[in-house]
Amino acid sequence: MLIRTLKISDYRNYSRKFVEFDPQLNIIVGKNGTGKTNLLESIIVVSNTKSYRTNNDADLIKKNRDFARIELVSDENVYKVVINKKNKSLYINERLISRTSEFIGSLNAVLFKPSDLELFNQSPSERRKLLDIEISKVSKRYIQALLKYNKLLKDKNKLLKQLEVDDVLLKVFNESMVPLIKIIIEERERFIDTINEYITPMYSMISGRPSDIKIVYRKCSEIPEVEKALAASYDKDNYYHYATFGPHHDDYYFLMDGYDLNSIASQGQRRMVLIAFKFALIKYIQINTLKTPVVLLDDILSELDKDNQERLLNILPSETQVIITNTDINNLNIKSDYKLIELREGYDV
Ligand SMILES: Nc1ncnc2c1ncn2[C@@H]1O[C@H](COP(=O)(O)OP(=O)(O)O)[C@@H](O)[C@H]1O
Ligand SMILES: [Mg+2]
Repeated sequence: MLIRTLKISDYRNYSRKFVEFDPQLNIIVGKNGTGKTNLLESIIVVSNTKSYRTNNDADLIKKNRDFARIELVSDENVYKVVINKKNKSLYINERLISRTSEFIGSLNAVLFKPSDLELFNQSPSERRKLLDIEISKVSKRYIQALLKYNKLLKDKNKLLKQLEVDDVLLKVFNESMVPLIKIIIEERERFIDTINEYITPMYSMISGRPSDIKIVYRKCSEIPEVEKALAASYDKDNYYHYATFGPHHDDYYFLMDGYDLNSIASQGQRRMVLIAFKFALIKYIQINTLKTPVVLLDDILSELDKDNQERLLNILPSETQVIITNTDINNLNIKSDYKLIELREGYDV
């Protein structure tokens, strides 16, 4: 998968910006605040249909402007995202796409960023978000089941808030939820199994030292037990007035050589586990879409020492398009050819 050009207007700090990318290695250089992250973020908006930095799309619109626009030309399609204060419109090849599930993951990019490290200490809901977005990008049945489940869950919670809970209706909700919960658990299991297949060898390659890395899926129930567990939650649901059972409480955690990563790994090791996790994610996307995602490295390389930088770039599949940002090209240890994209303060803004 290749990004050929990116054109943004009234997006974050940019009035207008046009960038042509090299099919292989691109390095965006600029001082802090010049808009490096904003450029990568706009690519993620096309990949995920939303930003990872805000839940409010209006934040993406340049101050005092009415709408932002992103136009991205890949080797396959022309993507357009138009964001105004109230809503956003998604287009592929000039065709308006009304379903998120049809747009998400059509362009697939994987972003590495320093704040990824928060994953280990974040709330379960933030960790689930990552799971949901990445699985949604490769599995239509997952995103469809998840959207339906979330809608039912909202209605079920509303019902449980009432003084007199309508038992018949509650049963209808639960019955409709069962097949959706099974799909959600099954796809999450598949995701975590695939990551576990690759994360340990990736970690050894990146760090240069072997360690056994494993993600443990803390799921609400085994698949054959879902009906029973849902029925068994009846009293608790009525007591707490919300749905106490379901995949909306799922979580996962990391083990290093059998120990909880949070309790034994150094900051440097955690960083490498995360990079290994992202590399395993690239594998998961490749296996499921038969395409290599575009890799975005935001301020990541300069945090690693020169040997690790080189190892990281060498592990990527050779056909991968990579876009790196950094404040100073001299911080990087890059031997191959690259396209340099320089951002200047007040320029193009
Ligand atoms: N909606 C917006 N309108 C105008 N400027 C914005 C908006 N959102 C963010 N910015 C500005 O974008 C600038 C660049 O951000 P960023 O891409 O994070 O820089 P870099 O990654 O190069 O350090 C910041 O100075 C910020 O104030
Ligand atoms: Mg930045």
